[in-house]
Amino acid sequence: SVITWDMESATKAGYPHFMLKEINEQPQAISDTLLRRIDKNNNLILDDIRLDEDEIQKIKDIYIVACGTAYNAGLIGKYIIENLANLRVRVDIASEFRYNKQFINENTLVILVSQSGETADTLAAQKLAKTKGCRILSITNVVGSSVARNSDDVFYTLAGPEIAVASTKAYTTMLVAFYMIGVELAKLKQEISIEDYHNIVEKLKKLPQKVKETLSVEKKCIEIAEKIKNSKSAFYIGRGLDDSVGKEGALKLKEISYIYTESFAAGELKHGTIALIEKDTPVIAVVTQDKLLDKTMSNIQEVKARGAYTIIITDKHIEDVKNYADDVIQIPEVYDMFSSILAVIPAQFIAYYTSIKKGNDVDKPRNLAKSVTVE
Ligand code: G6P
Repeated sequence: SVITWDMESATKAGYPHFMLKEINEQPQAISDTLLRRIDKNNNLILDDIRLDEDEIQKIKDIYIVACGTAYNAGLIGKYIIENLANLRVRVDIASEFRYNKQFINENTLVILVSQSGETADTLAAQKLAKTKGCRILSITNVVGSSVARNSDDVFYTLAGPEIAVASTKAYTTMLVAFYMIGVELAKLKQEISIEDYHNIVEKLKKLPQKVKETLSVEKKCIEIAEKIKNSKSAFYIGRGLDDSVGKEGALKLKEISYIYTESFAAGELKHGTIALIEKDTPVIAVVTQDKLLDKTMSNIQEVKARGAYTIIITDKHIEDVKNYADDVIQIPEVYDMFSSILAVIPAQFIAYYTSIKKGNDVDKPRNLAKSVTVE
């Protein structure tokens, strides 16, 4: 018999697609990005970000600028930095940044987020920020990339090469970057006590193991993919951080399954989008924030009453959850501030399996490129 051997399948390490391999590499990628930057006394080692207490006092505003999945990571970054470090943060899409009114100067920290470090829109934004004298911190996965070379400081995500067009491990390691930067800024600005700082770092250290446990949602996600594969449209809903995770979940699902998917702040549904809910329209609700739980649950009830097929991704133990959800994806519980890194994993699996069941080219979706070097 003839042994057929191709290099591509070799690099997929036995997985049928790069995307599935990369989803499963997340515990390792997160551990590499995170644990190497924590010392044995629970201090973050952020040598790559040379901000000291004096410099941080100068920073009045932060702009996060990015495209696609990196932009979605930036939405989470905004929440983390604002809530931990008590700094104002604005998130801009890189292709809009230059044309919007900017309030940037030497007292602005611009955080550019780019997996490849070569996205043309992001580089153009960087050029403008430099001419205005902003301090530039980039978060990128590629050492020596254009974004990295033109920054004051670089936080490298250590996700390893990401081949699938739909980003997975690059996104979750970007979240790690924001968690660490947020906690460090909070310490430098003395917004949290040293004791709280060490406690939060302790919570961060648990993430790789929790992410690993979350991978067990795969089977449930395969069943859900089967149920939604013929849907015309689908929706993600959530509040706060959960709305931001929904944005990434919706991007994953639409870009590889080609199902029209949008994400909405749960409370905004009633102002328009609820008109689109028909019998069996999938609505995936992300529910990880204690303080918003009751409000989101009542929004889920509103769509269920109109016939939606409701799926809840949650780390909470919700009483009578069957009254709200046709399917529940239970994920491990973590500190609410860091839940997004787990909540996105079922969204990645649902997108992957829906694409597979539709017979799509999951690693190379139509019309899309991994890195976009034109404006
Ligand atoms: C392309 C890719 C996306 C990615 C975006 C930004 O559109 O298909 O997956 O999020 O570019 O890429 P970057 O390398 O700047 O993170």
